[in-house]
Amino acid sequence: MRIQIGPLIVTALAVIVLLLIAFPPTVDFSRAQVGLNTPLPLSRGEQRLVPGKPSAVRGEKVFQKQCALCHGPEGRGDGPAASKLVTPGRSLLTDFLGVFGIKVKAEQLPSRPANFHNLDAQRLNSPFLNYETVTLGRPHTAMPAFGPRAPYGVNKGAMLTDQERWDVVFFEWEFQTSAERLARAKEIYENRVIEGNTCASCHGVAGDGRGPRGAEMAGKLWTWAAGRGPGIFTDINHLGQRKPSDLFQVIEDGSPNGLMPSYKGKLSEDEMWMLVEYVYTFVYEPKGQVK
Ligand code: HEC
Ligand code: HEC
Repeated sequence: MRIQIGPLIVTALAVIVLLLIAFPPTVDFSRAQVGLNTPLPLSRGEQRLVPGKPSAVRGEKVFQKQCALCHGPEGRGDGPAASKLVTPGRSLLTDFLGVFGIKVKAEQLPSRPANFHNLDAQRLNSPFLNYETVTLGRPHTAMPAFGPRAPYGVNKGAMLTDQERWDVVFFEWEFQTSAERLARAKEIYENRVIEGNTCASCHGVAGDGRGPRGAEMAGKLWTWAAGRGPGIFTDINHLGQRKPSDLFQVIEDGSPNGLMPSYKGKLSEDEMWMLVEYVYTFVYEPKGQVK
């Protein structure tokens, strides 16, 4: 009996295609791997985790060149390309068919750039989450990857260095604040005495935990003695992974160990948010967006 190869191949291909449709491979872009005590996973061979102190001033140039087209010059998500953006329209099935020279695009849905003035969204993102988005892109959206390796389903943008990506992340970060808010927060942080202390009494004017009461805190907290961890605002590996909403919560409720007082009812909510915005400026060179 002669075995008919042709129909067998066709059947096998059909089965593979059906399996791919039934069980599409998932792209894992969860952020679960990053814990507060894990150093930020930057490129191999990098001595320090963040290459140099990020600068919002330098980041502005990168933003206007690479991001404004979609996100708009003011970060409102209304750049010239914004209204026409669509998802990449790639799936494993379309790629598979491409192997046989069959060029098809999966459905391309509209994809809208983020508006960085949306405080609800901004306050739930840590600088590191934004760095990760800029580095890896968002699979199956129009947000391209600016890092060396784009994961599956992502468009490739222009390659930016590690430093440029950190710089642009902190430029974008400042859309949630303004020079005026940062100046008001600095004033409160250094000068407003509440129950005998300013924020700087413990955290230090420079945010390094070396205020007059810093040594006392360091005596009780090994992290402060080591100059890193919660409350040491110059530690970018810690602060870079904290979301504004996390920090707000600590200012409002105090810390479980009781060393950080609760400011509920002693500062207004808006003042607490301003202080959160100010606290991040210890890890980067601020520009201060004026709204
Ligand atoms: C081709 C258009 C395009 C370009 C260029 C682009 N973005 Fe985006 N970006 C998007 C889209 C679309 C989204 C929304 C993705 C989604 O739906 O989740 C997005 C989302 C983001 C987010 C996530 C915001 C959030 O709330 O989670 C960040 C951060 C971001 N972009 C930063 C940048 C930066 C920085 C640059 C420049 C280096 C840049 N983008 C360039 C299209 C673009
Ligand atoms: C009496 C000392 C003291 C004072 C005053 C104080 N803090 Fe703290 N703060 C701490 C300590 C200690 C921690 C670390 C607590 C811990 O181990 O979680 C901390 C933690 C924090 C954190 C959380 C950091 C993180 O990653 O979880 C924020 C934000 C903060 N302080 C802001 C402020 C602000 C703003 C003020 C002034 C309104 C202030 N603190 C006043 C001692 C103080």
